[in-house]
Amino acid sequence: MILYALSIFSIVTFVLCGAEELILPITTCKRNSTDYSTCLKEAVIEAWPRFVEGLPEFDFPRLDPLLYKDGKIILNRNGLNAEGNVINATIFGLALTRILDVRPHFLDDIFRLEIDMIIPKVFVHSYDSGQANLFGMRAGGAGYLNITMHENRVTHDITGYVKNDTWTVQHHRIIMTVERMKFYLSDFFDGSKELNDILEDFLNEYWPPIYREFAPTVFETVDPFLTNIDNRFFSKVSFSKVFP
Ligand SMILES: *[C@@H]1O[C@H](CO)[C@@H](O)[C@H](O)[C@H]1NC(C)=O
Ligand SMILES: *[C@@H]1O[C@H](CO)[C@@H](O)[C@H](O)[C@H]1NC(C)=O
Ligand SMILES: *[C@@H]1O[C@H](CO)[C@@H](O)[C@H](O)[C@H]1NC(C)=O
Ligand SMILES: *[C@@H]1O[C@H](CO)[C@@H](O)[C@H](O)[C@H]1NC(C)=O
Repeated sequence: MILYALSIFSIVTFVLCGAEELILPITTCKRNSTDYSTCLKEAVIEAWPRFVEGLPEFDFPRLDPLLYKDGKIILNRNGLNAEGNVINATIFGLALTRILDVRPHFLDDIFRLEIDMIIPKVFVHSYDSGQANLFGMRAGGAGYLNITMHENRVTHDITGYVKNDTWTVQHHRIIMTVERMKFYLSDFFDGSKELNDILEDFLNEYWPPIYREFAPTVFETVDPFLTNIDNRFFSKVSFSKVFP
């Protein structure tokens, strides 16, 4: 009888827990522990592959490859003008991320998380249209653009407010330095291979200043996209359960 009662009890508990709360795919760390940062770093390293695979129960997308359907980039500074649309950007490489450091900041009802990582190789395939003036080199039309980036050091700066035990991310900023970058273009300039290849060579030669000018605008443009991804997860979990 006792056994029977116990098993009913455990079934009820199981069902209640299942309905009430999704299973957290992460190890949590006690906020007041002395090695909190180290613990969080280990937790992120452990959880990363699960996030990379995507978490359908949280409506959280796969991160490798990561799909960015479309976005508009407008840039006008320091001899560079560009206005264009990025379509179906597919980003490969996040699975091999190395987490270097995780820094949490609690400030009243604001929570901020900084994560440093190295992504050894990122490959981006996209379809782009628009016009650009790159230090006097004019480019236009629409075509496919592949970019390979090596030894990428990335700092994520994720910040938002905590209310009703839920963290609502407001900004997901990125700073990224790249060691080497290679462009591959096709179909630009209405299919003129000659002009297409001239632009490709130009980009491969002068990528450092071009990257330096473009990167802040690109990361500003994808901030709402990344913020939305973060909130898909954090809107479904209690802040105090993830960061007890
Ligand atoms: C952390 O907080 C918990 C409960 O609030 C307490 O029991 C524990 O002793 C604290 N640990 C440290 C290292 O302060
Ligand atoms: C983008 O992807 C969608 C869905 O896979 C496809 O229907 C569309 O044709 C693609 N657009 C371009 C410009 O490649
Ligand atoms: C780059 O893009 C082209 C055109 O879309 C594609 O056919 C090719 O496979 C890509 N190159 C690499 C190295 O993936
Ligand atoms: C607070 O959170 C609970 C549980 O997550 C939810 O049911 C409730 O609607 C929320 N209240 C507000 C004001 O957002």
